[in-house]
Amino acid sequence: MYRTRTCGDLRLADEGLVIKLAGWVQKTRKMGGMTFVDIRDRYGITQLVFNQEVDAALCEKANHLGREYVIQITGTVRERSSKNPNLPTGEIEIIVSELNILNAAVTPPFTIEDETDGGDDLRMKYRYLDLRRNAVRKNLELRHKMAFEVRNYLDKQGFLEVETPVLVNSTPEGARDFVVPSRMNPGQFYALPQSPQTLKQLLMVSGFDRYFQIVKCFRDEDLRADRQPEFTQIDCEMSFVEQEDVLNIFEGMAKHLFKVIRGIDIKEPFLRMSWYDAMKLYGSDKPDLRFGMQFVELMGIMQGHGFSVFDNAAYIGGICAEGAASYTRKQLDALTEFVKRPQVGAKGMVYARVEADGNVKSSVDKFYTQEVLQQMKEAFGAKPGDLILILSGDNAMKVRKQLCELRLEMGSQLGLRDKNKFACLWVVDFPLFEWSEEDNRFYAMHHPFTSPKPEDIPLLDTDPGAVRANAYDMVINGVEVGGGSIRIHDSKLQNKMFQLLGFTDEQAEARFGFLMNAFKYGAPPHGGLAYGLDRWVSLFAGLDSIRDCIAFPKNNSGRDVMLDAPTPIDDSQLEELNIVVNVKE
Ligand code: AMO
Repeated sequence: MYRTRTCGDLRLADEGLVIKLAGWVQKTRKMGGMTFVDIRDRYGITQLVFNQEVDAALCEKANHLGREYVIQITGTVRERSSKNPNLPTGEIEIIVSELNILNAAVTPPFTIEDETDGGDDLRMKYRYLDLRRNAVRKNLELRHKMAFEVRNYLDKQGFLEVETPVLVNSTPEGARDFVVPSRMNPGQFYALPQSPQTLKQLLMVSGFDRYFQIVKCFRDEDLRADRQPEFTQIDCEMSFVEQEDVLNIFEGMAKHLFKVIRGIDIKEPFLRMSWYDAMKLYGSDKPDLRFGMQFVELMGIMQGHGFSVFDNAAYIGGICAEGAASYTRKQLDALTEFVKRPQVGAKGMVYARVEADGNVKSSVDKFYTQEVLQQMKEAFGAKPGDLILILSGDNAMKVRKQLCELRLEMGSQLGLRDKNKFACLWVVDFPLFEWSEEDNRFYAMHHPFTSPKPEDIPLLDTDPGAVRANAYDMVINGVEVGGGSIRIHDSKLQNKMFQLLGFTDEQAEARFGFLMNAFKYGAPPHGGLAYGLDRWVSLFAGLDSIRDCIAFPKNNSGRDVMLDAPTPIDDSQLEELNIVVNVKE
């Protein structure tokens, strides 16, 4: 009698058992008359032993095994004489009595080890081999566990998972759509959903008062470390709720995930910060609160002393980096170069060190007396050994964003962005609209169905830019992990929104008529939120890119290099679709 076990679960207590194992050959070693083979499966690695003296033919067969051969063995568990403390199975080995080669393998293009010799491109091309590596596989295991816990939590709260279609019309999340031609409707296209936003609102009209879905969303936008063209949302919507109800349910879900996945019990309510304060104090609507370095505004102190750069600025602000006065001239020059990079866009940087005796030495000493520099020091609450970094410019919002980049860079340089530390907050009270200088019009900051704060509704007529929305984002460690809003369910208010967003009645009817029409049949007040599952997983796994927790991701040019997609399609397919391709150079 034998038992089928995995390559990860055999222990000393199993000594003497006759077992069957199947898996991949990790490596083989020949030592004298003995051959050792490490066999690997999803669960771990176990050492197999073949002895020339006991069974020469079997040992010979083992000597011919190559890396990544698929084998099955029968053998007896035995205590190992030289134990390997780094392996959970390191106290045992298997004396093999039968070896069955299930499939030979060619040599893989990179080593299937934790520290592989394969570069990014190669590993993406052979992603199915990359997925055999521990490091990548465990991210997918974590993803499964998180999705499972999400379902568990939401099911207990009475949410129903409802699937929505993937072939839809354009959805209003503000990115470009991916489109799919329709054979049966020549010249017409479906759009893939950027999110199931309008569909989940329709489900509220249908009476499904607590909906959720773990769902693929598609957005044709430039890729970054935390963006993929297809990604997964934990999409939710609730009826008869106010903002507070939605925040409570989803803060509860965040805490549940922290507890069951990371073993972190967060008792206190998450911090809430208005969008206005987030921008003023951190220059970002997703501030990383693992560390301080809040912005201090210096117009009052630093203007009017003859330094024209500051005198002519609309905004002067800085940060205080604790203990960084020891930065050398070279390091400060590198920081200046950093803020001058086109991606940041500052013109220059002023610095000031607080010396051991409390005096301040700055790069603009000739314009400022020690008395003024001391006032500046007080404004930051800076101590001896601290370094103050200051930016200025003629557009306050732009300078704040530049200062945000500098703050994050200093946070990284000073080791303050620990991946095992988590700082969660809600950013609330977003503006309803965002003004576009380029297009000379308002855009919805969230999407056009987001409701204004009731007390700000009169401002829609007088000062739309000042209207705040019932919208909220959850931010963890500087990453927007989710966002949502209370929706407009009143068609008059919705029409007004469309007008302010520059839609004519006809355009609004053509794009959103189906939703407005549904609202005429009794729409409950409703609101919701969508979390980004990929972002949650990568935060919990400590990854630098969400790519690493997606089984088959796209590269930075939006390509799947393994499948070689996208590709041109056959003429016959184009013919069927009634499409003529004329690619512009
Ligand atoms: P939003 O556009 O803020 O809201 O998206 C919700 C969350 O989805 C994640 N996310 C992404 N993750 C990876 N790659 C991307 N390209 C990407 N884009 C967004 C983020 C984000 O917070 N329908 C609304 C939600 C609502 O109002 O209920 C929506 O989609 O974590």
